[in-house]
Amino acid sequence: MSVITVTRQISERALNILRKDHEVHIWEEDRPMPRMNLLRAVAESEGLLCMLTDKIDEALLDSAPKLRAVSQLAVGFDNVDLAACTARKIPVGHTPGVLSEAVADLTFALILATARRVIEGARYVRSGLWGTWSPGLLLGHDVYGSKLGIIGLGRIGQAVARRAAGFNMKIMYHGGRDSDAARALNAEPRSMEALLRESDFVSLHVPLTPATQHLIGARELEMMKATAVLINTARGPLIDQKALYEALKEQKIFAAALDVTDPEPIHVDEPILQLDNCVIVPHIGSASVRTREAMGILAAKNLVAALNGEPMLHTANQEVYL
Ligand code: DGY
Repeated sequence: MSVITVTRQISERALNILRKDHEVHIWEEDRPMPRMNLLRAVAESEGLLCMLTDKIDEALLDSAPKLRAVSQLAVGFDNVDLAACTARKIPVGHTPGVLSEAVADLTFALILATARRVIEGARYVRSGLWGTWSPGLLLGHDVYGSKLGIIGLGRIGQAVARRAAGFNMKIMYHGGRDSDAARALNAEPRSMEALLRESDFVSLHVPLTPATQHLIGARELEMMKATAVLINTARGPLIDQKALYEALKEQKIFAAALDVTDPEPIHVDEPILQLDNCVIVPHIGSASVRTREAMGILAAKNLVAALNGEPMLHTANQEVYL
């Protein structure tokens, strides 16, 4: 029986997988585990089931001499120092696949909300401004038949492309390894610049790494059409948020929608929150009941496998097994 720390409340079904053979300690509060509590907890733990709000770095690993496995409840793992885990022979699990459709659903919700000014419209009605029907009221842009540029045609990018087909969108992509999948989706490859210049909607689906930090800055925003919309359901630091604010304020692009910000949470005084052409939601891409349960179960299975000395179902640092 190993001691496992779980840094947030997850589904009972997931917890039961862990409890079957292990002693499980859960941080019950609805906020990230304070760093000191986390360091104290991992000192005695062999397994850690963590969230993207937990920093898994050298300092944490140094205070966790018994730690044998880390399992993250997310597909992204930019909060985890992978090299440091690998150096200690600690496999790091993550949860790809089970959340792709939910994140693609939210991406499409944001595409539609920004293009057709849904949030602005709801605010307009609530504030009593709706006097009469008007032919020029809250005009947006068509989604049907438009051009979608997907940056990162991985699992989530492909799920977005499948939805786009139903809207008769022309699909272009930059980045992504599976050209068979791209062909099956009728997605055409583009250079980054061509994609930015041609697309009506640009949607980001790449992981955050040093190479992708500020992938979209002032220069890239300049290349986009004045009628274009930028969507980010991946990681906040992919976009230079100050440059985005300027571009939206100057109406260099039509709108943006962010499920992720830099930092998270975004400070309530940030001027970008005041813009009508920017929709920001609180990192809820995978936040459906069914998906979060599936993520919990997969994260639990990853951890149990590693503690049993077996390979995880999905390991972020596959090289740990070499
Ligand atoms: C992830 O899985 O990386 C998302 O950002 C949270 O669902």
